[in-house]
Amino acid sequence: MSLLVIGVPHIARQELRPEESGQLLCVPGGQPPLWKLMDSVGSAGLRQGEEALSYPEEGLPGPSDSSELVQECLQQFKVTRAQLQQIQASLLGSMEQALRGQASPAPAVRMLPTYVGSTPHGTEQGDFMVLELGATGASLRVLWVTLTGIEGHRVEPRSQEFVIPQEVMLGAGQQLFDFAAHCLSEFLDAQPVSKQGLQLGFSFSFPCHQTGLDRSTLISWTKGFRCSGVEGQDVVQLLRDAIQRHGAYNIDVVAVVNDTVGTMMGCELGARPCEVGLVVDTGTNACYMEEARHVAVLDEDRGRVCVSVEWGSFSDVGALGPVLTTFDHTLDHESLNPGAQRFEKMIGGLYLGELVRLVLAHLAQRGVLFGGGTSPALLSRGSILLEHVAEMEDPSAGAARVRAILQDLGLSPGALDVELVQHVCAAVCTRAAQLCAAALAAVLSHLQHGREQQTLQVAVATGGRVCERHPRFCGILQGTVMLLAPECDVSFIPSVDGGGRGVAMVTAVAARLAAHRRLLEETLAPFRLNHDQLAAVQAQMRKAMVKGLRGEASSLRMLPTFVRATPDGSERGDFLALDLGGTNFRVLLVRVTTGVQITSQIYSIPESVAQGSGQQLFDHIVDCIVDFQQKQGLSGQSLPLGFTFSFPCRQLGLDQGILLNWTKGFNASDCEGQDVVNLLREAIARRQAVELNVVAIVNDTVGTMMSCGYEDPRCEIGLIVGTGTNACYMEELRNVAGVPGDSGRMCINMEWGAFGDDGSLAMLSTCFDASVDKASINPGKQRFEKMISGMYLGEIVRHILLHLTSLGVLFRGQQTQRLQTRDIFKTKFLSEIESDSLALRQVRAILEDLGLPLTSDDALIVLEVCQAVSQRAAQLCGAGVAAVVEKIRENRGLEELAVSVGVDGTLYKLHPHFSSLVAATVRELAPHCVVTFLQSEDGSGKGAALVTAVACRLAQLTRV
Ligand code: G6P
Ligand code: BGC
Ligand code: BGC
Repeated sequence: MSLLVIGVPHIARQELRPEESGQLLCVPGGQPPLWKLMDSVGSAGLRQGEEALSYPEEGLPGPSDSSELVQECLQQFKVTRAQLQQIQASLLGSMEQALRGQASPAPAVRMLPTYVGSTPHGTEQGDFMVLELGATGASLRVLWVTLTGIEGHRVEPRSQEFVIPQEVMLGAGQQLFDFAAHCLSEFLDAQPVSKQGLQLGFSFSFPCHQTGLDRSTLISWTKGFRCSGVEGQDVVQLLRDAIQRHGAYNIDVVAVVNDTVGTMMGCELGARPCEVGLVVDTGTNACYMEEARHVAVLDEDRGRVCVSVEWGSFSDVGALGPVLTTFDHTLDHESLNPGAQRFEKMIGGLYLGELVRLVLAHLAQRGVLFGGGTSPALLSRGSILLEHVAEMEDPSAGAARVRAILQDLGLSPGALDVELVQHVCAAVCTRAAQLCAAALAAVLSHLQHGREQQTLQVAVATGGRVCERHPRFCGILQGTVMLLAPECDVSFIPSVDGGGRGVAMVTAVAARLAAHRRLLEETLAPFRLNHDQLAAVQAQMRKAMVKGLRGEASSLRMLPTFVRATPDGSERGDFLALDLGGTNFRVLLVRVTTGVQITSQIYSIPESVAQGSGQQLFDHIVDCIVDFQQKQGLSGQSLPLGFTFSFPCRQLGLDQGILLNWTKGFNASDCEGQDVVNLLREAIARRQAVELNVVAIVNDTVGTMMSCGYEDPRCEIGLIVGTGTNACYMEELRNVAGVPGDSGRMCINMEWGAFGDDGSLAMLSTCFDASVDKASINPGKQRFEKMISGMYLGEIVRHILLHLTSLGVLFRGQQTQRLQTRDIFKTKFLSEIESDSLALRQVRAILEDLGLPLTSDDALIVLEVCQAVSQRAAQLCGAGVAAVVEKIRENRGLEELAVSVGVDGTLYKLHPHFSSLVAATVRELAPHCVVTFLQSEDGSGKGAALVTAVACRLAQLTRV
């Protein structure tokens, strides 16, 4: 290929690539240009000596009348390669700015994500209605599209076009949408189709902020529309309201797409994926499949998302200024939206005719055309339409047709006039095609860079009447794209039905997702607890507390702990502490002076030991103690020991605790019903040369309360939300049956994990809870715990995911062995998945590690399932704490209660939202209580040591 250069000074030569200098430039069709550059003319936009890109106007002889004025006019529409490259570069820059979410300076193009995350995979099927509004100016189209889901098997869509009255396009928004609803019913009246379950895709060809496949807010009208009360509104809702008002049919609007997306999605499946949609009709725009990670507003790092460029608003003065003509300024000034859509007004079919009219009127009024004659039509805006321009430029139309069109405009053209008019049309449309190509080349270069591909192979779906009807537009477009984006190998695929099928494809996907959403909502609805349900749990728990304290039948055992006081800071000494029952078994050395120093070691309790014999378990415990003593140089010392034993024990004294039943996966034999302090002492006795003085056994809730109470004396409640869950609090002794004395308080271990074991929580229990309970080693037990704590939440989620997979909502319905494996979905996954940052990335990483094939929609659904399960757990936990603080407030006859809760447990500490949800629920259900949650730093081992220290101090007092 070569470039023809006439009298160009040295500067230009340098710009040309060596292999190009001194050659003639041809584009498809290969005819050498008949035009010679009038470099001396110096017309608008061309700097001295710059070359303009020109295209052979097949069948059009050079303008024989070369008067200055005509040349100057036509020259204004000549765009140089450098100018096109500058537009390409500037648009590329604006695209990247907008993708990065840069707000100021506001990027010249909008880059709007469209929620279409994949190009069609041809499996979509069903009958869908499509309403197209805005693509073709003053008309809307209703289609009935049948998707067979069989590749290559197409059913011709039925369609009907309706002309939109001007006053409707410029009137009240409600009127426009009522008109659309009317057209829909008129179309359906005429169609022999079933009118049940009608699903509609709304092709709305205007710039919109989409927040979902069926939620889209109009940013601003373009083209000939300017209805009031629509900008800033959700256009899907406006259409739904209009269909409702019309009331003839029940049509479900399930998706809204931009016409470029419909064009891209409607593209026949071919060798290359169709990943760009280009529309040049009354307006112009393009969309393409962007890497989701490049779109800052999306929290997505994988996959692709279709982005509507909205290049019609491109208005970088630096790039566009030089190519804007006086006619463009006039057209813009007189348009409905002056200053806006400047780029579109140089390309869109709504404007091409007007540009031609303005040039013809200009030349006529200067006596160069039509002998200086004009006509009312020539002087009135919008009298020359795209169809006129396309026909007049069509070489096959011939001069006679051109004359006929001009005569219809009340003009009497001479032979030269006909020729000149054709050149004016050609100049205007050539520029439009070139500018459109520069914009498309920017999109293609961006795609090629984004995909780090040497050569980008891509298919571009083209649609719109300018592409379809203009004889040369697409040829020039393709030629210029090849010139400006040589590293892209592009195939252009004309859309077969203006994108109707594409809109139906998106609608099919949206319908499937909407159906999935309904199934998901139905599945998760029981997890969404409202105020009344939570207040009922609070009231239920309150009742159970009172019954438990009275020693009546209750699922809450309300176990006295013989801890009567929280530390007063006078405790001193070294103490050993054991912490059994949480994630880790710990042995601690606690030195209490003015402060507390802790040295601890974590030991594992193998499942075989936790579920072996009691003797084995306690021997293992003593082994760990001995190992710890050796490591700490304490061997042979008999330090007072506090034993945090996190299981339900009926305490007969501070150092006597009868294990009522194991929980949390422990099931060692011969322990239940035994005094575990005794079991420990027996194990110590079995081990020669070990002396240990077991002073106290405390529950981890009590240890936690004491540990935090050491820092904050208002801490009178202990809460654990870890492997298991439970709470304790300081109850008035007068309320505690079975413990002598009416004054003072005693810490009560509620063992709230068992709340509901009497069926009082049945109204909240779901089939998933039932599955988890049934599969547990203690079915029917710890029902409240099994809805809240870390040992079970992952399992609840796994069961829900299995259920949703069986419904086809997840993982395309493919059940995998991995997901059927018990405990494979760890509760810690919930904390990771629900972390505010990187949420979907976490989901993806975790599920892929589990070998689950997922789509981005799957990731979102898994996130929602985790959120629903953890939210219910936190709310139930909050309802429990609300019951406790209200009990304390009423115990003390206080209007307002200020109290602190010592909290520990992996779930509470690590989950990103659990603690705040618990606090919010307590504020809602116990508004007269100011509750401070203190996260325990050193665990309950410290608390056990402090209880031991208090016991030793009290024992000291009684001894003196
Ligand atoms: C801390 C306490 C333990 C308690 C545990 C509960 O570690 O020191 O006494 O049992 O928290 O949480 P977890 O998540 O470990 O079950
Ligand atoms: C709108 C785009 C649309 C294009 C083509 C423009 O005016 O802003 O959303 O895609 O016209 O119809
Ligand atoms: C136990 C409680 C313990 C809680 C938290 C429950 O399973 O029954 O005693 O406090 O877990 O660890």
